[in-house]
Order: sequence, then C-alpha cells, then structure tokens
Amino acid sequence: MCGIVGILSNHEAAPTLVEALKRLEYRGYDSAGIATVNKGKLGRRRAVGKLVNLNDLLVHDPLPGKSGIGHTRWATHGAPTVSNAHPHRAGCVAVVHNGIIENYRDLRGELSECGIEFQTETDTETVALLTERYITDGLDPVEAAFKALDRLEGAFALAFLFDGEEDLIVAARKGSPLAIGHGDGEMYVGSDAIALAPLTDRITYLEEGDRAIVTRSGVEIRDQHGALANRNLRTIQIDTSQVDKGGHKHYMAKEIAEQPHVIAEAIRHYLPVGDDMVHLPGDGIDFTKVQRLTMVACGTAYYACLTAKYWFEKIARLPVEVDVASEFRYREPPITEGTLALFVSQSGETADTLAALRFCQDKADKIVSVVNVPESSIARESDLALPIYAGVEIGVASTKAFTCQLAVLLMLALKAANDRGEISAEDLADHVSGLRGLPNTLNTALEQNDAIQQAAQHLSEARDVLFLGRGVMYPLAHEGALKLKEISYIHAEAYASGELKHGPIALIDQHMPVVVLAPRDALFDKTVSNMQEVMARKGKVLLVSDKDGLDEARDGTWITIQMPPIMENLTPILYSIPAQLLAYHTAVAKGTDVDQPRNLAKSVTVE
Ligand code: AGP
Repeated sequence: MCGIVGILSNHEAAPTLVEALKRLEYRGYDSAGIATVNKGKLGRRRAVGKLVNLNDLLVHDPLPGKSGIGHTRWATHGAPTVSNAHPHRAGCVAVVHNGIIENYRDLRGELSECGIEFQTETDTETVALLTERYITDGLDPVEAAFKALDRLEGAFALAFLFDGEEDLIVAARKGSPLAIGHGDGEMYVGSDAIALAPLTDRITYLEEGDRAIVTRSGVEIRDQHGALANRNLRTIQIDTSQVDKGGHKHYMAKEIAEQPHVIAEAIRHYLPVGDDMVHLPGDGIDFTKVQRLTMVACGTAYYACLTAKYWFEKIARLPVEVDVASEFRYREPPITEGTLALFVSQSGETADTLAALRFCQDKADKIVSVVNVPESSIARESDLALPIYAGVEIGVASTKAFTCQLAVLLMLALKAANDRGEISAEDLADHVSGLRGLPNTLNTALEQNDAIQQAAQHLSEARDVLFLGRGVMYPLAHEGALKLKEISYIHAEAYASGELKHGPIALIDQHMPVVVLAPRDALFDKTVSNMQEVMARKGKVLLVSDKDGLDEARDGTWITIQMPPIMENLTPILYSIPAQLLAYHTAVAKGTDVDQPRNLAKSVTVE
C-alpha cells in the first residue's frame, strides 16, 4: 500500500520527508519520491526501489525548500519506474496519492480532447493534470484542487503542492486514511500517525470525504458537503521504540518474540485480574440477543475468523458463517434478524473488509470490529470496536496481531457461551486459567526457536510444502501455509488432514515436506493415520506436537518439533509460534526480504 507524507516546515523539508517515508516502509513499496517548493518553484526527485536510492539521489542532486510532499508507491497502475513514481506533476501542481481513481480513463479521455498529453500510465497523473487545467481556467489552487476532487471516483488519499505556494498543502481522503499533524509553527500530513511520530503526537484524522487546507498556522477541514468540519485533535501515544527492531534482525522476529507480552496485555484488558468474567468496552454485546454471527476478514485475519468459528460453535453453540471480505458482499448473503456482523482487521483500513462492513451497516443488528488500530476507518465505522492491544505491527507478515486476534476472539466466544448459558462455571474457569497461563506457555514455545531454525534449513530447499491440520487446528494450517509462501516465496498449501486422501495425496513423494500441526487431542489418532498415509509414500513429515503426541507418533517422521502441553481450545494460539518461526527462518535461509516481501503491502487499501 502506498504511503503519503507532507510537511510545512521551518527547516529544509527533504530530510524530514525521507525520514517520515522510512516509517511508512512497512506498508510495502517499489519506488519513492518527494517534491518541494523553493523560492516559489516546485522541484521533484524520484527513484525506483528502496528509499536508500532516493537518498543517494538527494545527496548528489539536493532538493531545497521548506514545504514538501513525499510518497512511497506500491504499483497498481503502471510498472514501478521513475516516470510512474510519485509525486506526479502537471505544470504548477504536484500530487501524491494512495488508492485507485476508478474513473481515471474517462478523465484522461476528457483531458486528451483538450489536447493535453500524458507522460505516464498512472491514474494519479490525471489528478495533477485536471487540477492544473482548473488553475489555467482561472481558479485558485484550493478551488482547483476541490473541483478536481469533485470529479474523482474510487478510493484516495491525496496531497497537493503548488508552484508559488510555500505555505499551502491541500489534502483529501476518501476510502484511504489520512492524518494531519500539528507541530509548533509547522504542520504535517501523513498516511498514519506512525509516519508523523517523530514530528508530533497531536493528530487529527480526516473523516471520509474530508478535505483539508493546511498552512503553518493550522488546518481548515471541510466535509464532503463543503461545510466546515470540526475534527478531534487527539494526542496519539506511539511509543517510538515500538517502531524499531529492538535488537532483532527483522521486525517480524521482534514481533514474534513480543507475543507473550502483548497477549498478556490483551487478556488483561478483557479479563481483569481477580475476575473470571469477560469485560467488553462500551455497551458491550448481549449474546442472548444474537441468533447468528457472520465474520468477515482477509488473509491472516480470515484464518483467525475460521479458527474462532470452531470456538463460537463448539463452546457457545452459536451458528457462525465466515467469509473472505472480497467475496462476501458479491454473494449477497441474506443478513437475517439477530445477526451480529464481526470484522477482523489488523490495520483497520483493508478496503475489502471496510466495504463488507458498509454492506452490513443497514442490515446487521450490530457491527463489531476486532482491530489493532482503534482510530482506523473500520473501528470508527463499527458500533463497537474491540482493540487487540498488539502494539504497532511493522512486519508485512502478520504475527502478533494474529495471535492477539485469536485471544480476543476466544474471550468473545467465552462471553457468548456464558451469556447463552452454554458453559459451566468450571469450564469457564478452566478456559480463563488457560488464558492467564498462555503468556508463559508461549515463552516455552519460543524456546524451540533453535530447533525450528534447524528444521527451516531443510524446509528452505523445498519447492512445495503441504500443511495439515484437523479440527480447530485446520485454519492454522492455512495460516502456516500463508506465512511460508508470503515471506519465503515457497509454494505452500493447507488441507484438512482427512482431506488428503481425496486427491492431494497424489502430490506426495520423497520431495514433498508435509508439516503436520497436531497436538495430542481428540483427533490425534486420525491425524496419525493421515501421517502414515503420507510416510507410506515417502512423504517427509515434519510433526509439530506435544510430548505425548511425539512419544506416540515420532517413528518414521522426517523432523519433529515439541510444544508444551495446553488445553485443546488454546492450541491454535500456541502452535502459531512454530508456524511463524518456520516461515521466518525459512525466509531468512532463502535470503528474501522478510519484513517487506515482494509484491506485498502491510495494509491493502485498494479493492
Ligand atoms: C498477513 O500475513 C498478510 N500480510 C495479509 O494477509 C493480511 O492479513 C491481510 O491483508 C489483512 O490485513 P488486515 O488484518 O490489516 O485487514
């Protein structure tokens, strides 16, 4: 996903713009650029690849000026080239953009008819050209930008800079987040508060459809109807130590290691010490009024929902449907009375998930979200937002957010079970005790790091890998496969263990590693049978289990990894650790970009 920054400074803007862009690197990008206004004149520097390339360019070809905009581009329209990199410029206008202008072809046609020529394949250039045309027609920069914004369809966060305007940035958001930072005699614009953290903690989040006229003296915000809007000025607590690697080689390694701590934080907020009841913020959820639960998410968050389905149905006896967000609204699901719609999203900005939430807004009884960013769009458009307290997650591959999502969803399922009278006090107490002990158990699992690293050396030689799980562990098999493929680029698939014999077993031979995630639970014997089917065909089984499971089934396996024992419903959270570490160490062995894997973005704000 692209990143946007802007600054009206009292010092040279270029170094600060690049520093702010560095804090947006986690979003994923393949080119970057900045523009400034110096002595009334716009200037631009852009480079393909990582920010270090832009820095090199600026060393040899400095860009003076105290006001500027910057951008990290994750290519949507047009290849990652210098000419397609932002900021895009048309005469006296420079623009940076996050999102997709869906009607940009129509607008290009209109501009072409006026004899205007294009330098790039991008939708963003169209915005610059349209704005410039309106200035040429006699409008002032703000009026011209606003008129251009009126013409745009799709999702965008935009920042405009103008020739001759050393104290003006126009910003706008529709579908993609944008924040305004308040400094001392300086003002900032950024895709999120992380980018602006070193500059200010005083942040105003633009709402859907807002436009902002930013000068060093402050910001004027107008809503989508053009009326003056008063948006909250918040003080955002971003512990900047959270946005460094804390001595680890990668953010992903740090975030895997943080899980015991952040899960303890999540549990503490929903299960206060000395109380076995789950406490929800706001007006909570009365599950006695809930007939069914529909859960919607993307990627890793989707696998958290699939896991939670087992818990809600098994513990709370509540029917659950789970959808990937990009499919959900297009199948036009009937949202019947008594439906609670639950959306899970680490960033809270995923366009597909946000669109699915909006589909439910006038249909479901209640909209609840489970998010890691309480100020995010998904959180703000929910009736109730449940934070997961994972802290800033920088690595593109989600780890601590996933396990915190699981912990919150399990606590939600326990509340549902208790509200609906489906769980005994003893069983509830057992689960609460298991959750309270989870951080220590996770620490024990993390002690397997070296054994897992050794296993990963072998896994890194594979071309294809299968992941098997059964019951509540089956969704985790999918998450393990996703982790491996998204950061090591090794093809991986997941199957319910019992499904292998219905086709996929044809894939098994001596070259095929099969990772089996199987605690010694009620389904273990069946999983052992499936494992034996694999080993009978020379398949290489990497078995992740507890001591009892390994004692029973270690014979014939290729590699084993031992997990501490834990109650069955908590196993998906615990076994996330080996799944994550396997992927991480395999990727490190392969030398891929672990924190910013190719083609990926941390939050996908385009549909
Ligand atoms: C997770 O490792 C992936 N990077 C990706 O699938 C991610 O989970 C998905 O894009 C959803 O993001 P969200 O949780 O921010 O909505």
